[in-house]
Amino acid sequence: MEDFIRYVAFIFLCFLVNDVSTDCDKWMTVSTDRTVHKQGFHREIVSNLTWIIENDTKMNCILMLVHHIPRDMFVDLDEIRSVDTSKIVPVGDPNDFDVERPAHLSTKIKVLVYPDIKKQNMESYLRLTSSSILLVHWRYQQPTQHQHYVPVTLPRPTILTRCQDNFTSEHMQRCLNKQEILQYPCDHDTAEMCDWFVLRQNLNNQNNDIIFTVPVGVKKHTYLVACGTIFITLSATYILMQLPWFDINKEKIR
Ligand SMILES: *[C@@H]1O[C@H](CO)[C@@H](O)[C@H](O)[C@H]1NC(C)=O
Ligand SMILES: *[C@@H]1O[C@H](CO)[C@@H](O)[C@H](O)[C@H]1NC(C)=O
Ligand SMILES: *[C@@H]1O[C@H](CO)[C@@H](O)[C@H](O)[C@H]1NC(C)=O
Repeated sequence: MEDFIRYVAFIFLCFLVNDVSTDCDKWMTVSTDRTVHKQGFHREIVSNLTWIIENDTKMNCILMLVHHIPRDMFVDLDEIRSVDTSKIVPVGDPNDFDVERPAHLSTKIKVLVYPDIKKQNMESYLRLTSSSILLVHWRYQQPTQHQHYVPVTLPRPTILTRCQDNFTSEHMQRCLNKQEILQYPCDHDTAEMCDWFVLRQNLNNQNNDIIFTVPVGVKKHTYLVACGTIFITLSATYILMQLPWFDINKEKIR
């Protein structure tokens, strides 16, 4: 009998632990919605985040996205700087952001985005939303023997939060404290480092990795392209030479 009670108690405890952890999972989950705009080598990635937490008046958190850009893409630092409102911070060696480098000579890079956040009170919840844009460009691919396209994956960004104050709710604070911590600059305009909590992401929506189909030059076309270019250049020169104003010039020279 005693064993049986112990067994029931054990099962009950398991359920309790399980319930608490899934409850934390729920509060520490952000839903990420990414959409791709524009065509060709230049794409605009719009990332919309929604974080729903318990209504908490002391709640004073900001969100940040870490975009993991594969070596097949680049982010143009001049372009970022030209947009006044952007709160985008490149991480690492500026040489890795070289816009001229082809994919096979590049490395993957990280870009931090500090979006503006909207807070909205809903019944007993607080809804935090943000929408941010990142412009990415495909790098030129090394020509291959046969392949005309390669798949290029832009993985999900890492979503982090940093809170000025602790939550009023001890429960929420306990859930937050369980999350993994990473160090990144406190804000877009400072080099000072802060602890950021990694938030979970809703895996149910279809917006996990974005896969692009990037065109690749094919080696056997190289000669064709080269010959074509030379032929067109020569023809154009010939045609230009036949134009009347060229004759005038020739006459002047004479
Ligand atoms: C949120 O909580 C605060 C105090 O904790 C309360 O004054 C406010 O009415 C709540 N908001 C909603 C929408 O429940
Ligand atoms: C993302 O947010 C922006 C601004 O709130 C909105 O205009 C856009 O429709 C949203 N996109 C998606 C896919 O929800
Ligand atoms: C927030 O909570 C942590 C432990 O959870 C505690 O060490 C810290 O002092 C608290 N900070 C404030 C500002 O209450």
